[in-house]
Amino acid sequence: MGIISALVLMVFLHLSCNCLNFGTALDTISLSKSIKDPEAITSRGDVFTLGFFSLANSTNRYVGIWYSKSIPEESVIWVANRDKPLKDESGVVMISENGNLVVLNGQKEVLWSSNVKVPVASVSAQLLDSGNLVLQDNNSSDGVRLWESFQQPSNAFVPTMKIRTNVRTGERVQLTSWKSPSDPSNGSFSIGLGILSIAQIFIWNNTRPYWRSGPWNGQIFLGIRVQRDYSFFLDGMNLVDDKEGSFYITYAAASNKSFFSYFLLDSQGNLTRRNWNDEKRNWDIFWSPQITECDIYGKCGAFGSCNSENPSICSCLKGFQPKNKEEWNRGKWTSGCVRIKPLQCERINSGTKSGKEDGFLKLERTKVPDFPEWSANLEDKCKEQCLSNCSCIAYAYDPGIGCMSWSHNLVDIQKFRNGGIDLYVRLAHSELDENTNIRRIIIITVVTGVVAIAISTFFLWRWMAKHRAMKITSEEKLIFNNKGKAHAKCLSDDTVGENINEDKLQQQLPIFKIEELAIATKDFNLSNKLGQGGFGPVYKGTLKDGQKIAVKRLSRASGQGFEEFMNEVLLISKLQHRNLVRLLGCCIEGEEKMLVYEYMPNKSLDAFIFEKSDVFSYGVLLLEIVSGRRNTSFYNEEHPLSLVRYAWKLWNEDNILALPDKVVCDPRHYEEILRCIHVALLCVEESAKDRPTISAVLSMLHSEIVDLPSPKQPAFAERENSSDTESPQINQNIYSINDVTVTKMDGR
Ligand SMILES: *[C@@H]1O[C@H](CO)[C@@H](O)[C@H](O)[C@H]1NC(C)=O
Ligand SMILES: *[C@@H]1O[C@H](CO)[C@@H](O)[C@H](O)[C@H]1NC(C)=O
Ligand SMILES: *[C@@H]1O[C@H](CO)[C@@H](O)[C@H](O)[C@H]1NC(C)=O
Ligand SMILES: *[C@@H]1O[C@H](CO)[C@@H](O)[C@H](O)[C@H]1NC(C)=O
Ligand SMILES: *[C@@H]1O[C@H](CO)[C@@H](O)[C@H](O)[C@H]1NC(C)=O
Ligand SMILES: *[C@@H]1O[C@H](CO)[C@@H](O)[C@H](O)[C@H]1NC(C)=O
Ligand SMILES: *[C@@H]1O[C@H](CO)[C@@H](O)[C@H](O)[C@H]1NC(C)=O
Ligand SMILES: *[C@@H]1O[C@H](CO)[C@@H](O)[C@H](O)[C@H]1NC(C)=O
Repeated sequence: MGIISALVLMVFLHLSCNCLNFGTALDTISLSKSIKDPEAITSRGDVFTLGFFSLANSTNRYVGIWYSKSIPEESVIWVANRDKPLKDESGVVMISENGNLVVLNGQKEVLWSSNVKVPVASVSAQLLDSGNLVLQDNNSSDGVRLWESFQQPSNAFVPTMKIRTNVRTGERVQLTSWKSPSDPSNGSFSIGLGILSIAQIFIWNNTRPYWRSGPWNGQIFLGIRVQRDYSFFLDGMNLVDDKEGSFYITYAAASNKSFFSYFLLDSQGNLTRRNWNDEKRNWDIFWSPQITECDIYGKCGAFGSCNSENPSICSCLKGFQPKNKEEWNRGKWTSGCVRIKPLQCERINSGTKSGKEDGFLKLERTKVPDFPEWSANLEDKCKEQCLSNCSCIAYAYDPGIGCMSWSHNLVDIQKFRNGGIDLYVRLAHSELDENTNIRRIIIITVVTGVVAIAISTFFLWRWMAKHRAMKITSEEKLIFNNKGKAHAKCLSDDTVGENINEDKLQQQLPIFKIEELAIATKDFNLSNKLGQGGFGPVYKGTLKDGQKIAVKRLSRASGQGFEEFMNEVLLISKLQHRNLVRLLGCCIEGEEKMLVYEYMPNKSLDAFIFEKSDVFSYGVLLLEIVSGRRNTSFYNEEHPLSLVRYAWKLWNEDNILALPDKVVCDPRHYEEILRCIHVALLCVEESAKDRPTISAVLSMLHSEIVDLPSPKQPAFAERENSSDTESPQINQNIYSINDVTVTKMDGR
């Protein structure tokens, strides 16, 4: 009996306890509910916890917010009393008499306060699932926030937080690094939005810029290098003009509620992204925009350009020389470079005779310098305006931004391998060596011409093969005949290269209007974003007729030009196979290029598109073009070698120049021919895993990828010796589709 009454009493006590707290949620601190070390409150969905914690090697206690799944040391996103630690475990968090949220020590001294003028006595502080701690008028129905922790960030940038700068008042909401991993007081680094005409993200070391994102063009930051996981940074990232004088960057929470990700500015000034790994029960630490020394702001001084791939990373822009040669040669670059020959307008101003008009030097794929000034001009007007104003020393144009010009020293220029935009630097006429430029243009035109012919021959060949096959097989009807004519506009665009078979493409592929796609994807709403490919984001959408689609919106700075775009369209439209995602159409309007695929539920589109579509047969075709003979032609000869095997044999004998057809085998083209053969051998490697993707093949042919790996044994060298019954069959599939002849290229 005694036990039972004790149990009843306990239940009663428990109930009455709850009764006393009635109405006060576990996520709220109110007048009637404070927390004492080691108590805590958690947000409604148990995403975040607010409580007391200590850091390694220290007995100091802090009040902060961390991810509930993680331990505080690993994931504190906000600290209240970051400058004034509690020295023991007697701390309290409560609502003070004047309506502020405060942290008190055992002696009732206020170590931290939300420090706002509260007009009402009845307030409460609630911890939301976003990680925001919000002080609200308990009595107000409109939910006016008196104070929120998101307005006073620590060193973490979590989804839905806004890093804000008010252009009118100069007020900034920014992150401040910790002093060290065991001391959360203000360190020397901060990150925020700097806005002088165009918005850019900055990391500052105290007050000096330490890193810069480059201008925001509506989709990406132009100065963040295109790298494999750069899309990571852009995922849902957005820069917003609130039209009330302030700009902010923010990003949406992942749609998967158990996936957590945030950015952290560490005490060394490095920005990293951390993703929660549920299996390891810890954080995977990812990306940092600061990868090379060139990412440090102003590394090469004024008019210097940084290229991390050069042995000596800094060089002066053409037409400039080191200000202090001796320092520069020692690797001390900060004093920068100075102009060698004065500009025409400077000479006019100083009264000397004027010469020819100044011109512009084009620098490709650059991170444009700091202090851009914005004007709404179009591209050609941009140049004109700059030329006509003597204080304008450089300009650049980005369709997402408009015209940018510079009138100060050009600082923090970087040369990228991919990404960036073209910068035009003003130089005196005599500095612009036009002859070399023209020669360069001729060489480039010849090389790309040869490559383009090879590629388009391939596509033409593929198309003809397909076309014949389609005539024969009545089931394989063209899918889009009916829709195509409605919007013929897109492909009748003059810019369509002649090599591409426009008419046929037009017949097969409908062209979507941009409005149609905008409606289908709810204006490319973030919530419809499926992911990010190498060339741009992919959105889910529903057409008017109810068909589900996936729209790949090629980012403007993707570097994918018209030619690559059309190649992708052609290539994919040819791959109508039941295991492959189907291309439904495309859209080209102004700067926008989009591909519309059928929507594949369940899996990422990446699994279906390319990022290896019959690379092998492409490799064989390359060999066929270069050698001028068909792969199978060898079977009739004395030595039953396939072309692939023959090529491999010559390659290993260092005699590969015996392969090309005499028609193409001109010593002036040796380098290109060798590159073609090299790429071809990479395509036919035994293991499909080792073969490059078709997009990599294109880059290799365009010499964007300079160093090619050595080819490994091709797929046929061995099989022919073995009695593998599969190989003849594979053979046929690949080469014996029909008897189309390959057009030979004639050098002259
Ligand atoms: C705040 O409002 C809730 C009801 O909305 C009430 O239960 C609670 O007691 C109030 N707290 C204070 C401190 O007034
Ligand atoms: C804590 O102290 C140990 C030993 O002095 C040291 O190795 C460790 O790096 C320290 N941890 C932190 C976070 O400072
Ligand atoms: C709460 O609001 C009601 C009406 O909106 C008002 O009558 C009441 O005095 C308020 N109470 C407090 C504590 O502010
Ligand atoms: C720490 O940095 C924040 C943000 O820059 C600033 O508001 C605050 O006053 C700083 N605290 C101290 C003690 O300097
Ligand atoms: C940050 O600035 C301080 C001086 O303000 C300097 O001593 C320190 O080296 C800088 N840190 C980095 C990483 O550049
Ligand atoms: C959501 O994320 C968790 C953790 O990353 C993962 O295990 C789970 O499979 C994801 N769920 C969906 C539907 O993607
Ligand atoms: C962090 O920054 C320091 C100096 O600023 C640098 O030496 C270090 O490599 C960076 N760490 C990472 C992980 O990027
Ligand atoms: C020339 O450029 C400077 C700097 O951008 C600007 O302040 C000035 O107004 C311009 N002058 C004219 C005539 O446009």
